[in-house]
Amino acid sequence: MDQAASLKGDKRKTRVIAVASGKGGVGKTNVVANLACVLAAAGRRVMILDADLGLANLDVLLGFAPQYNLSHVLSGEKSLVDIVIDGPRGIKVIPASSGIQEVTRLDAREQRILLDQMEAFDGQFDYLFIDTAAGISEMVTSFLVAAHASVVVVTPEPTSMTDAYALIKVLHNRFGEQEFHLLLNSVRNMNEAEQVFDKLHLVCEKFLDISVDYLGYIPSDKAIPEAVRRQRAVVEMNPEAESSKQFLRVARELEQMPVKKQTGGLQFFWRRLLHGEFARE
Ligand SMILES: Nc1ncnc2c1ncn2[C@@H]1O[C@H](COP(=O)(O)OP(=O)(O)OP(=O)(O)O)[C@@H](O)[C@H]1O
Ligand SMILES: [Mg+2]
Repeated sequence: MDQAASLKGDKRKTRVIAVASGKGGVGKTNVVANLACVLAAAGRRVMILDADLGLANLDVLLGFAPQYNLSHVLSGEKSLVDIVIDGPRGIKVIPASSGIQEVTRLDAREQRILLDQMEAFDGQFDYLFIDTAAGISEMVTSFLVAAHASVVVVTPEPTSMTDAYALIKVLHNRFGEQEFHLLLNSVRNMNEAEQVFDKLHLVCEKFLDISVDYLGYIPSDKAIPEAVRRQRAVVEMNPEAESSKQFLRVARELEQMPVKKQTGGLQFFWRRLLHGEFARE
């Protein structure tokens, strides 16, 4: 029954969506920030885990300066509620970037701290977005496997396409992952998005025997770097921009996406992540 439950029909369970790309700098953080803003504006309760070690971090993008992060929780200096930051529209952000590398290698005591404290958030959010780092590290793959849905951001650049394919291949071959939602970013238009999607779809089908899903596209839009400079999400700063309109469509798509993976809520996600319980249900 759970498997068919969409967010609309089940308010209690948090849907965990990990956003990755393989290649760095292709727009993951922008995607997370903007989708979070759109969904929060529509009344969804949204939390973001900032697991991005890149330069243009979420805090820069959404205009806040975290003093503490997950490492302070793990050391016992702070509790999780102390480090959570209020973003725009009631979005909560867990600044994790400097503490996140160790998360898959925590000892039993630290795991307990994290799991106990995460319990406070159980049932509090409709969405948890995870903004992952570039590359295909163990940390990134762990998040993707533990999450309920994986969004892969890809641009028409050949290196972005090959890196996205490499990421999908590792997740499929090593962890048996079957489901990937492609989001085409920085494209000229819908045609280009579909061409890039078709190419990736074809190689995934041919060499991995899996069918990737088309989530949507975001055009290359100068309104995005303008918004980044002002530390705002483009959907907030310039709702009429072409990219903002597409973020709206993608968010709608996301809301309707059937959840094929078991949706055991937030606690379940953390347990899977920390204990490496990656067997598919
Ligand atoms: N659709 C777009 N149109 C124009 N510029 C964009 C678009 N998407 C992202 N950018 C620009 O690309 C840059 C990188 O974006 P972002 O920081 O979101 O990428 P990232 O994948 O999170 O990077 P990292 O791998 O370093 O974490 C930003 O400066 C942003 O302004
Ligand atoms: Mg980033």
